Amino acid sequence: MPVTKILVIDDESSILETLRMFFEEKGMTVFTADTGTKGISLFEKERPRVVILDIRLPDTNGLDILKSMVQQDMPAKIIMITAFQDMETTIVAMKTGAFDYIHKPLDIDQVEQAVDRAARIIEIDEKTPSLQTFTDAANPLAIIGRSEKMRHVFKMMGLVCTRQVNVLLQGDTGTGKELTARAIHMNCAGKEEPFIVFDCSAVVDTIIESELFGHEKGSFTGADHTTKGKIELAGNGILFLDEISQLPLKIQGKLLGFLQRKEYTRVGGTHLLKSNCRIVAACNQDLSKLVDKGLFKQDLYYRLKVFTIFLPSLEERLSDMPFLVEHFLNKINRELGTTVIKIQDGVMERLRRHRWKGNVRELENTIVQALVGCRGNVLLKDDIDRILNQHRSEPVAGLESFSLAHVEKKHIARTLSQLDWNKSRAARLLQITLPTLRSKIKKYNLHPN
Ligand SMILES: Nc1ncnc2c1ncn2[C@@H]1O[C@H](COP(=O)(O)OP(=O)(O)OP(=O)(O)O)[C@@H](O)[C@H]1O
Ligand SMILES: [Mg+2]
Repeated sequence: MPVTKILVIDDESSILETLRMFFEEKGMTVFTADTGTKGISLFEKERPRVVILDIRLPDTNGLDILKSMVQQDMPAKIIMITAFQDMETTIVAMKTGAFDYIHKPLDIDQVEQAVDRAARIIEIDEKTPSLQTFTDAANPLAIIGRSEKMRHVFKMMGLVCTRQVNVLLQGDTGTGKELTARAIHMNCAGKEEPFIVFDCSAVVDTIIESELFGHEKGSFTGADHTTKGKIELAGNGILFLDEISQLPLKIQGKLLGFLQRKEYTRVGGTHLLKSNCRIVAACNQDLSKLVDKGLFKQDLYYRLKVFTIFLPSLEERLSDMPFLVEHFLNKINRELGTTVIKIQDGVMERLRRHRWKGNVRELENTIVQALVGCRGNVLLKDDIDRILNQHRSEPVAGLESFSLAHVEKKHIARTLSQLDWNKSRAARLLQITLPTLRSKIKKYNLHPN
């Protein structure tokens, strides 16, 4: 049913008349009220789907009316109009659930656009069925996927849970390696044992060894007391070595020794320590290629790859897209307090078409972005389009943007922001060295926003 009824509540008769004439001409039925009380009774009687509501009314405050209207069973889209220019009222209105907020003097085009948009969203909402709620939304560790490739991943995870083996997780950025490592931990007998994360790309080379293996008091300047390393902290649990390819060769050797003998020494120590922790290593590059280039120790690679799980890229499992989208809607609704339970026709096709370089992480971020700006129950194709096109078309907006440096700057900035400013990962994705990336960040004066 298209939107035909509209209610205008304002104490200025000129505004009531202007809007009445304008929207009647467009074929709508317009109700007008010059006080809050009259407005509410018309609202209850006529049930308009769109309301234009002034904030300062002779008898009531428009914000109170807004509050009671959004709590109705069949809520209307309410467009606030006001002469107030202050930030607070706008924020309160939007927080309370206003659809839009327009300042006086009224620009009729702006009002028309807001009403059209509200009407369109109402129509899409009416013809889009609600999703079923998923039970796994409560579990942040749920790994979503029903494709052949993901079913294979689940099978492998099941196997490692029953065998005390080290595991290598291979997959592009954002494919769920850390999530998988945590899920392995939760499904193993030792789930009460620790799960320790060590990001090999985040620690400077000089202290990696002591971080990992611990150090004895006095072993180097500043080593005031004996400190446990991550291996010790992991106890009988799991040590998750993220970005294992970034481990310096020397430390790779020491790690190999530990994997072979289950024994190691702290930095500056001679005493042999034992540990039963299990290593789950993650890598978003092909480790075998790094071995060929001499950047990764072959013996360590052979040790680790015994049990490898390959996480497929999102593009290799597009059939999982609907399940992932529903999962993220549930999860993000919960986090943001939004109520998006419908997906407009066409959204899924648009998502399938995108080149997901950041895989599931990029998909999740896209949905967060769409929900932050959403004022209804439907995930809209326009919103998704806007977000995905923005990613793609940024480098060529305007003439100056055709310069190579500009394109490079934009590309680096986008890559960094998609990876939460993880520079080592960005450098790898961009296929430049970390020092080169650092100098470009400086040159282009880039900052995390
Ligand atoms: N199959 C999945 N189901 C649900 N959420 C997923 C799935 N895969 C990834 N995610 C989500 O995507 C985000 C990125 O996942 P994760 O951090 O595990 O990626 P990663 O492979 O470790 O990436 P990187 O190499 O960049 O570190 C997380 O928020 C994670 O919860
Ligand atoms: Mg990771």
